[in-house]
Amino acid sequence: MSAPSPYVVELRDVALNFEEKKVLTGVSLRVEPLERLVIMGQSGSGKSTILRLILGILQPAAGSVFFKQFEISRLQRRKLQQIRSRIGMVYQYSALLSSRNVRDNVALPLEELTDKSRAEIDKIVDEKLALVGMTDAKEQMPSELSGGMKKRVSLARALVMDPELILFDEPSAGLDPVIGSVINELIISLTEKSKVTSIIVTHEMDSAFRIGTRMAMLYQGKIIEEGEAEEFKRSKNPVVAQFLSGSTEGPILEGSKDAIATK
Ligand SMILES: Nc1ncnc2c1ncn2[C@@H]1O[C@H](COP(=O)(O)OP(=O)(O)O)[C@@H](O)[C@H]1O
Ligand SMILES: [Mg+2]
Repeated sequence: MSAPSPYVVELRDVALNFEEKKVLTGVSLRVEPLERLVIMGQSGSGKSTILRLILGILQPAAGSVFFKQFEISRLQRRKLQQIRSRIGMVYQYSALLSSRNVRDNVALPLEELTDKSRAEIDKIVDEKLALVGMTDAKEQMPSELSGGMKKRVSLARALVMDPELILFDEPSAGLDPVIGSVINELIISLTEKSKVTSIIVTHEMDSAFRIGTRMAMLYQGKIIEEGEAEEFKRSKNPVVAQFLSGSTEGPILEGSKDAIATK
């Protein structure tokens, strides 16, 4: 048995494969209260996989994943459901239900996971929509919204259970740079106002350094560097240096020519 974690999230030497493909080979990571930890890495390096492990959607082949004192992979289904309600998730493509309007999308976790009355739910939905600046869009359908608006709605949905932790998967992917920056600022102000810990995965450097209070870089199945922005930028690791500069010169292309050639 492993000792419980004092962190909001802790991964201890986590390995995970899909069939023969080794995706994570020994990821260790600690997330302190109120941090915004950015996990950066190339496409396909396993960033979304880490988020799915934290949510208990995937099980590690080895190692352990903790949310506070709970070892996620050891929980019974019922307990896991309970723990998941304390974690908000903002998916890469917003993942709104196309048949439900904005109000009903945001209300969904409250309807499924609580026994609150319609009036109580409406009050919370209004409050969270106001936080993301979407009060006027309550009756609109997802198909009527721009990418940035969808992202705001999915942020509001992640907040309705007053989570202790929010996971963001590529929050500015697919948005134009200006809207992407607006969403980044919203993430910063919301996590600060709501006093919530967050993990943000991204392959976009500008977003990473704007949002993160700490950075970690995932490469070939492991966290190869982590630290606060300034210290991270000074990393002597050639992979980190290459990733930050976006240079074609360096170790990254060598190991992954095929992956890049087939993009
Ligand atoms: N359910 C799955 N079955 C098989 N392979 C998967 C599955 N999910 C992800 N992968 C593979 O695992 C690797 C890591 O995926 P992912 O975590 O989505 O990467 P990232 O989010 O960093 O782009 C990729 O090579 C991807 O193709
Ligand atoms: Mg991903």
